[in-house]
Amino acid sequence: MALTQLESPQQPETIRVPEVEKGVGCNFDSYLLVPDTTLDARIAAAKAALAERLVILGHHYQRDEVVKFADFRGDSLKLSQQAAAQTRAEFILFCGVHFMAESADILRQPQQQVILPDLNAGCSMADMADIGQVEDCWEQLEAVGGLRVLPVTYMNSTAAIKAFTGQHGGSVCTSSNAAQVIRWAFEQGERVLFLPDEHLGRNTAYRMDILLDQMVVWNPDQALGGLTEDELRRARIILWKGYCSVHQRFLPEHVEKVRREHLGIRVIAHPECRWEVCELADDIGSTEGILKKISASAPGSAWAVGTEIHLVNRLAKENPDKLVISLDPNVCVCTTMFRIAPQHLCWALENLVAGRVVNRIEVGDETRRWARVALERMLSLA
Ligand code: 13P
Ligand code: SF4
Repeated sequence: MALTQLESPQQPETIRVPEVEKGVGCNFDSYLLVPDTTLDARIAAAKAALAERLVILGHHYQRDEVVKFADFRGDSLKLSQQAAAQTRAEFILFCGVHFMAESADILRQPQQQVILPDLNAGCSMADMADIGQVEDCWEQLEAVGGLRVLPVTYMNSTAAIKAFTGQHGGSVCTSSNAAQVIRWAFEQGERVLFLPDEHLGRNTAYRMDILLDQMVVWNPDQALGGLTEDELRRARIILWKGYCSVHQRFLPEHVEKVRREHLGIRVIAHPECRWEVCELADDIGSTEGILKKISASAPGSAWAVGTEIHLVNRLAKENPDKLVISLDPNVCVCTTMFRIAPQHLCWALENLVAGRVVNRIEVGDETRRWARVALERMLSLA
């Protein structure tokens, strides 16, 4: 897959970083008072001062004011490939959410450090599968006996769950390669335990000719996931009951409404959307898939997009010869992605310039060892 290096905004050489020089740069609160008009120049100056010691990775759902400083922009797969490829930079600063920074830390070289500008940038989907619940689920599946299950976890999960997956012979996947990874998993076992996004698992498996009645949903709050042993034996894929609060907001009625209002518009949905929405859509695409499809479409074409609003708005701006709108007029924003503000970026960078690493993400050695096995399995399939 081709990776694009983005141009960094130009910066004047004279910009200084006064708070850091006075030794108060480690206090984030003082950055809330930095006037917006000076942030760009300060970020650019700190970035220039760090030069090749630093690489900034930015997910497509980040706001424009932040993602414009990324050296590499991408979806989860591209960014994990990039994190593994950046062996020279001392610091990998991740403009994304916690599980992405953790994945970069798992794949980094020993001398590198990974930074997440705001530690509150989590992911509600990743929080829906706790390692204790997953271990408990696994014990119960083993107790049923003879199921031959292989775990596959979406990138959007904790490092502990990735490690569990690696230890049990499974792999990580992203929305870009879920079908490829699930196909591989079926070559190793009879059943797949797909964590933690029910919708991505169902949408992908359905398009691999697995019938809906061969899929069951494991509810971690109920004994045996709320299922019977017979249901588990009939199932080919066991879907963890988890979802993305952003993508699950898109509903079939949004598809019907946008088609009524824009004759001939094409609907493209991310596979984290509900199955019913993906069934009605003209196309299904991972974040990178949506981007490629719309960019390559003919001038004059019209698209209603079921994914995070920052990407939709950017696509609209970058494709002025096409109509690109959100599938939900009420705006679907990922509030945790949005937590990374230019102030956080400026604070983290100026501290690095001053020799202080703030908000380092560090996965423990044992977890890293096994999580890396699961991530590298995915990267070797990609
Ligand atoms: P991708 O980057 O794999 O499309 O995932 C979308 C997402 O929700 C990231 O959090
Ligand atoms: Fe998590 Fe959804 Fe936000 Fe992605 S878009 S970080 S899955 S809440």
